[in-house]
Amino acid sequence: MAYHFPEAEPYRIKVIEPLKITSRSQRQQILKDASYNLFNIPAEDVYIDLLTDSGTSAMSQDQWAGLMIGDESYAGCRNWFHLQETVRDITGYQYILPTHQGRSAENILMMIHLRQGLSALGNMFFDTTHAHVQTKGGIPRNLVIDEGLDGESNHPFKGNIDIDKLEEHIKNLGREQVALIHVTVTCNNNGGQPVSMANLRAVRAVADKYGLPFFLDAARFAENAFFIKLREPGYAEKSVKEIAREMFSYADGCTMSSKKDGLVNIGGFLALNDEANFRQAQQYLILLEGFITYGGMAGRDLEALSRGLKEVLDESYMANRIRQVHYLGNQMLAAGLPVFRPIGGHCVLIDMKQFLPHIPQLEFPCEVFCAELYLDSGTRAVGLGQLAFGGVDEETGEILYAPLEVVRLAIPRRVYTDNHMDVVIRSAIRTYERRDSLRGMKITWSPQVLRHFTAHLAPI
Ligand code: F0G
Repeated sequence: MAYHFPEAEPYRIKVIEPLKITSRSQRQQILKDASYNLFNIPAEDVYIDLLTDSGTSAMSQDQWAGLMIGDESYAGCRNWFHLQETVRDITGYQYILPTHQGRSAENILMMIHLRQGLSALGNMFFDTTHAHVQTKGGIPRNLVIDEGLDGESNHPFKGNIDIDKLEEHIKNLGREQVALIHVTVTCNNNGGQPVSMANLRAVRAVADKYGLPFFLDAARFAENAFFIKLREPGYAEKSVKEIAREMFSYADGCTMSSKKDGLVNIGGFLALNDEANFRQAQQYLILLEGFITYGGMAGRDLEALSRGLKEVLDESYMANRIRQVHYLGNQMLAAGLPVFRPIGGHCVLIDMKQFLPHIPQLEFPCEVFCAELYLDSGTRAVGLGQLAFGGVDEETGEILYAPLEVVRLAIPRRVYTDNHMDVVIRSAIRTYERRDSLRGMKITWSPQVLRHFTAHLAPI
């Protein structure tokens, strides 16, 4: 059955944020001043900012109104009780801990479960989760299905974890060597690809068989639920909320970055079913974030989050969200650009090995494209390739190549119109048409770690 997507946004604009229009020659100077690294550009000099969908949502009138009833009491503010009730209603989990972002929820979860040498099994761990496993001495293992790494496979659920690999790992490592299973919905690292309900059910069965705890990284849970509605037999007539509730029912809890499907600019939570773990988590929460009823967020922010979590489950909102992301990706595909298929929930990935085959990975094709796109239209994208994930082995001096060389265009929620998407599409196509004239870049300065955030580059 074909789904009837809305033709346009199910909301209208009441407040606007003016954007600065720069000229190409101004952008040339801005790029130079930023040493050709778009992270170094002041956001005001960006026309369309597709760096991330995280914390960049526009809030609704109801959310803004909610800020005014923020209760800034240290303990037991009313907005906390509203949030607790909302999260319980959506997830079904009993114990909720507010955190200021997703990564602090991940930190606390891993503090409880990880020990030196233990493994954490997942589809693909987001960078911060990966790091939180490692800092506890643990080993994160990515077990996404093979199709999930193939940019041309049209598998409908490319975020699925490979159930055979999962069980093999548990058997080979030994049950005692595995701390937990953590599945990210949708899977951010391969472009917001969804995980099917059948897959989550199968993970539950494996978790039960071996007595392992199983958690979701729920940052984009509602987008995942909508894909299940669209693509998985038996779910077309169910509401996004019902589907989300069933997804959560298979896990023992979740970590959440509310900066995505919470439709807010800051926030997160950890939700659990196990009371003993909850008591322990509360102690860490007080130590790291704040008292158990605010956890690093202002009362008003808790309120905006409760309201955002309800709005994200509105089907007309979600259908339009996915429609817009797919509009961007499918227009580029139609123009022959090497875009990862199928388009995911929050971003479009462009394969730079195909886009700029004449520029070797060591000359940073992602950053070449991002600089060119910015120069052309003031659009900011981000490279996920050699600069971010490649490097040099400190012991052997051997060059380590990043597995993928892709640019991500992430779409903020309720922020840009389709006209903005058209600007990006035309700009990417123009860049594609003159791809042969583009030349590589070299690093002129680089920090020891996480170099893509601050490195300086220059055209060769
Ligand atoms: N999990 C997923 C799947 C994420 O995408 C992110 C953040 C986090 C956890 C961490 O949450 O930022 O609230 O601490 N992703 C952003 C991005 C940064 O651009 O994809 P946080």
